[in-house]
Amino acid sequence: MTRWGRQTLVADRPTCQAGRGLAGPFTLDLRDGTELDVRSAVGDDLPGVVDLHERCSARSRNRRYHGGSARLAPARMRRLLEPARGVTLLATPTASHSPSAPVVAMANLLGEGDTAEVALLVRDDWQRRGLGSVLLRRLVWEAEQSGYVALDLHVQAENTPMLRVVYRLARPSMVDRDGSLLTLTVPLTAADSPARAPLDLSVPTR
Ligand SMILES: CC(C)(COP(=O)(O)OP(=O)(O)OC[C@H]1O[C@@H](n2cnc3c(N)ncnc32)[C@H](O)[C@@H]1OP(=O)(O)O)[C@@H](O)C(=O)NCCC(=O)NCCS
Repeated sequence: MTRWGRQTLVADRPTCQAGRGLAGPFTLDLRDGTELDVRSAVGDDLPGVVDLHERCSARSRNRRYHGGSARLAPARMRRLLEPARGVTLLATPTASHSPSAPVVAMANLLGEGDTAEVALLVRDDWQRRGLGSVLLRRLVWEAEQSGYVALDLHVQAENTPMLRVVYRLARPSMVDRDGSLLTLTVPLTAADSPARAPLDLSVPTR
């Protein structure tokens, strides 16, 4: 986003003071009836999140982290689980009913100043079922509640699935291109704005 655009966004807003968020848990139903629990991550989720990364393809990890397909160091993963500012959501199948239920998706909102960076990782065998779209909508809602003025997403230009997920938001976004990396900026609406759309956690229909 241009500096002018950023100044326009923040002009009438107090500076965002949000710290680490703890999103309330919720359940969501996929198109095929599968139910998932979504909740904030805690430090004890490290083994589940390591397992999520192990079970993702090299291409998915590369699309998420843009830096090769290598595994993340545990210290960096821990910081992702409990960000100083923002929130990390984890999705687990409800049917597992076990404290060690597999983590099938992770959604990160990392606050920096008055904006927040968002990223998603859905396990390959859970992709294309609407999960990424629901998680992104929820993070947009979390960010608006916390007073951020915009979201940034760093997406490889070839990453059609993620571009589709952002398109599904049906919100205007600005795009900056640096080689093969796109930075999409989605302006947010203040939580108390009458123009703000209600939270929609329904899985998109095809
Ligand atoms: C991007 C990602 C989060 C999408 O999650 P998802 O749960 O599959 O998303 P959805 O099921 O909500 O699908 C959203 C759209 O992407 C499309 N899509 C999903 N996977 C696709 C694929 N492999 N090829 C083409 N389109 C795909 C869906 O068809 C849908 O498009 P539509 O709106 O036209 O129907 C997931 O693919 C992923 O984790 N990828 C690896 C990590 C990554 O790319 N992160 C983004 C960096 S910020």
